Formats: sequence, C-alpha cells, structure tokens
Amino acid sequence: MTERELDESLQPERGVTRRNFVRVSGVAAAVVAFRGIPRLSVLDGRAFAAPASARVRPSLRPAQSALREFSLTAAPSTLDLAGMAVDTWGYNGAVPGPPLRVTAGDTVRVNFQNSLAKPSTIHWHGIALRNDMDGVPDVTQQAVPPGGTFTYEFTPPDPGTYFLHSHVGMQLDRGLYAPLIIDDPNEHGAYDTEWVVVLDDWLDGIGRTPEQALSRLKSSMSHGGSMSSTKMAGSSKLLGGDAGDIRYPYYLINGRPPTNPDVFNAKAGQRVRLRIINAGADTAFRVALGSHRLTVTHADGFAVTPTTTDAVLLGMGERIDAVVTLQDGGFPLVALAEGKRSQAVATIRTGSGNSGGPKVRPAQLDRHVLIATDLVPASGVAIPKRQPDRTHRLVLAGGQMGYRWTINGQTYDTAKSLPVKLGERVRLVFENRSTMFHPMHLHGHTFSLMRGGRKQLTPGVRKDTVIVRPREHIAVDFDADNAGNWVVHCHNAYHQASGMMTTITYGTQ
Ligand code: C2O
Ligand code: CU
Repeated sequence: MTERELDESLQPERGVTRRNFVRVSGVAAAVVAFRGIPRLSVLDGRAFAAPASARVRPSLRPAQSALREFSLTAAPSTLDLAGMAVDTWGYNGAVPGPPLRVTAGDTVRVNFQNSLAKPSTIHWHGIALRNDMDGVPDVTQQAVPPGGTFTYEFTPPDPGTYFLHSHVGMQLDRGLYAPLIIDDPNEHGAYDTEWVVVLDDWLDGIGRTPEQALSRLKSSMSHGGSMSSTKMAGSSKLLGGDAGDIRYPYYLINGRPPTNPDVFNAKAGQRVRLRIINAGADTAFRVALGSHRLTVTHADGFAVTPTTTDAVLLGMGERIDAVVTLQDGGFPLVALAEGKRSQAVATIRTGSGNSGGPKVRPAQLDRHVLIATDLVPASGVAIPKRQPDRTHRLVLAGGQMGYRWTINGQTYDTAKSLPVKLGERVRLVFENRSTMFHPMHLHGHTFSLMRGGRKQLTPGVRKDTVIVRPREHIAVDFDADNAGNWVVHCHNAYHQASGMMTTITYGTQ
C-alpha cells in the first residue's frame, strides 16, 4: 500500500459518511461529498441541532471578557533531535507548538491555516466548548483541506492545563500538538514559577511515519497474529498488562530527547508548578523529579485535594499539575515510558550539580506512584451527587482478530451514537475486556470518576480522560449540559484509528 492509499483508507468512506450526516443530524439536506469542496455545506451550522452557546460559569466571567486572537499554521517542519533533523508536521514551525494561554472566560479566536498536504483540524482537548468548534472531522466539522483555513472561536469555561492537537488520522503522532493553558482569574499563586512539561513518544521522520506504523500493526495482525505474538512494546504491572503496541525510537520532553534535554532554570526555595501533559500516542509515562516529591494539585485541569507522591502515572491525553519546592542543584525530571524500557528526560536547575545524564533513574520512580483514580477532588469540584438518569456500558475489546479495537463489539461508525437527553445525569461504565489499558476520553464535558462500592457510588475527581486497565470497570458520571455530537474514544491514537471511538449525541431539547 502506498502512503496515499493508506491515508485514504483511514478516511471514512464517502457514501457512509453521507448517510451518517443525515442520520445524525436528522436533516435530509443535500450533502456533497467531501473531497475538493472548499467550504462547509451540511456542517455549516444548519444540519446539527444548534449547540448550546459556550458556557461560562458566572464566577469565572471577568469584568470584561477579552477577545484573544491567535494564528496557528499546521505545516511540514523539522524537529532537531540532538543534532539529527527529522521531518515532521508541526504548528508554527515548532514541536510542541507554541503554548496558547488565556484566562477562563476570555473568548479565544484561532485563525487556523492548513499548510499540510492533507486535511487537518484542531481539537481543544478537555475544553467544554461549543460543539461546532470541537475539531472532530466528520462529526463537528469537515476537515480543513490542504491550503484551507478555519476560524475557531470559543470561550473556555474552566481554568486548567489542557492541550490542543490535530484530530485527523494519525496526525497526533506527528508533532501537531501544543499546550493550552487556561488561567484562573481567582487564583492567587500558591507557587512562584511554572513549567509546562509536554511528554511525547516519537517515531516520525525516523524510518516510519505513524500511518506506516499503523499499517504495519494492521498487516501483522491480519496474518493470524495475535496481540501477544506481535506486540512490540512490553508489559507493565502498573498498567495491569500490555504497555502499548509500539516501542518508539525516542521519548521526548518538550520536543527534546534525553541527550539534549530541556533545562528549566529556577531558584532554590522557589515553588514551581509543573503542568505535565501526556501528548503521546501509545505510551503512558511514569514521571518523577530526582530528590523531590511531587504535590499533585490538579488532574485534567481540575483541583484535587493536594496529595504528595514520589511519582505520577499519566495515560495519553491526561494532565497533572504538581507543585514542588526546589532544592539547590541540578535535578532530572524523568518520564519513564511505562513498560517500554526507555525514557524521556529534562532538567531543573537551581544551582550547580550533576543532574545525571540520559539514563538517570531517580529512586522516586520506583517508590509510590500515584494514578488519577487515587485522587480526591478539592471541595466543590466534584459534580453534585445525583442518581444517573441513564447508564451506558462501554465494553472495550480488541487485539484478538486483526488490529481492530472495539466499543461494545463495534468499530467506529458515525451512524451509531449513544442516546442521551439534555439535562440528564449520564453514567458511562468502561469495562475493559482486553489485555491493554485504554485512556478513555470524553469530548465537550468533564466527568467525575465515581468512587466507592457498587451500591454507593459518589462523585470523585473531575477529569476528561481516565486510564481503564485490563479487567477494570470504571464508572464516570457527567451532566448532559452541552448539546451536540461528542466523541468518546480511546486516546491511544492507534486504537482510535482502528475503531475504538463512538459518539454521544443530544440536542438542545
Ligand atoms: Cu485529545 Cu478526541 O482527543
Ligand atoms: Cu485503547
């Protein structure tokens, strides 16, 4: 298969798409096939139930809401891996792309220019935004064609650490991601300085593109292979099974490999807020800072009861904020590629001293490792207690017959969606029947992780992405207060592209 054929095979089939739009939207509008159409037709605001206007909680609305305008261009670019330049795709020529930062309640306008040779979109991961700005091709918009532009405009309601990334095909596994930081106008710095730490697993430009890696997984599995005989990555006790499908040549922090690490300079005694983002496609990271413990303050943007730990585990799409009071010296920040026998490294420097080199392994990595399900929400952060009006089970499976990953036995089909009604309290129960973990992500909402026994579940930490380990059942509750077509999917980019995605749809009435 050529790369072009491969790419096309990743695009939804036209006829199916056409039917789906009509069915999802309930409008029998004339729909034009996608390719070569420069402007939106059916998706241009009319076919879908009008999304709820962006929700801004009154307490977060600044006296004057500001319009903050940015430009992001997706284009071929190069990434310097310790002296080796590799070809990839990035935003504004950088990997990660430039951090986008606003205050909750501001209106964000992003003029997106697609200078790639492929269609693309931008998704604002974790933001409860208006549906038509969510950046999901074929669901909330038509992908922006090569040379095309799109203006994203929305008002992020909740402060926190987020990121943005392409939502087309395997593009997330190139360099098309950037931090998205929403400041809290009511927060009075419990820290002195901050550092955004973006983790990634990297293969692009080194022998194989992400599309070729996917194709290789598919073909090895369709010749009688099973997950256990073909998997390349290894396993992890913390993840409860397989650690991933791909062992990458590089693991990066802020776009840099361990041999040329990013260095953060600060002063001893300062409290630094780390905003750690896992932008990887197939890798969970176990993160620790040499000689320090981390006090976790936020998970996926939302405050938790501060909890001190030696290390944290982040699935793809998860974020953690942690505050650390810095000692004097040089310290390695290490992100172990969980179960894959490799790592990403960066350095915090407050004074002289050796921070350890590319293979350094701080003892903290092998002490207490926190995962988000261990956390307790800060007061007022969990959603209020309420009986669910509706429960959807999502059985996660795959890896048996061919490289196919399913939800309730089906691969992604935009014609099917899980019904929900505006105003309902909805429970999703993720049941993992595969041998690999899945970081499950919901668009357009945050959910509370439900805690406690089967009978008495109470809402816990607010998140948008949660690791579901093999054999684990995890219940999450959310309020259906943001009408639209929202995808829920595994944030393993290879699983997502191989079917592990579905849609939740509801209108404004
Ligand atoms: Cu960060 Cu639908 O994804
Ligand atoms: Cu998965």
